[in-house]
Amino acid sequence: MLRIVVCVSGGGTNLQAVMDGIEQGAIRDVQIVRVISNNRNAYALERAAKAGIEGVCVSPRDYDDREKFNEAFLAAVKEAEPDLIVLAGFLVVIPPQLIRNYENRIINIHPSLIPSFCGTGYYGLKVHEAALARGVKVTGATVHFVDEGTDTGPIIMQKAVAVQEGDTPESLQRRVMEEAEWIILPRSIELIAEGRVTVADGHVRIEEPA
Ligand code: GAR
Repeated sequence: MLRIVVCVSGGGTNLQAVMDGIEQGAIRDVQIVRVISNNRNAYALERAAKAGIEGVCVSPRDYDDREKFNEAFLAAVKEAEPDLIVLAGFLVVIPPQLIRNYENRIINIHPSLIPSFCGTGYYGLKVHEAALARGVKVTGATVHFVDEGTDTGPIIMQKAVAVQEGDTPESLQRRVMEEAEWIILPRSIELIAEGRVTVADGHVRIEEPA
């Protein structure tokens, strides 16, 4: 059984996609052992509660400085003893200690085809605003391992989504979620749970099923 901790900040539709994948049997041998949010009011916490999953809030606002927050966040993760940490719309900079402690065991979903529209300042709707401003015809989503850079870790899966005439950041965001994020995040977790994902020299290899 692969134990996962899911970190969230907002609506939690990606968390929902993972919970649904487990519930429907598409993702086997995976258990969400804890959901951690930096935001007490995140709807994602309600989704977790409805599914009977423990949700905890660790907010930078509750700590005097970043170092104390980082320690508390690390403790909240460690206590749950995860095999994999899933950042599903988690909009807080991950403590470096966490990255060092869980090398190639933290994954993130980003709403563009990395290396486009990623890095510092590119999150949520801002990514889609930038894609529309640049006039790209294709965008998409990426699941990658987290390293000490911002959106720079080894890429596990990507899926392209067409931009349509008249798209707004909101309509594009929705289509990228429906056509890419909610598919490749659960699928990446499934592949990791099956032991088919390896990282060498900064590149991910996905092995064929046995
Ligand atoms: C998703 O689109 C996710 O890709 C994005 O935040 C949204 C969260 O939605 N993440 C980033 O931008 C990370 N840089 P959700 O709470 O409904 O899953």
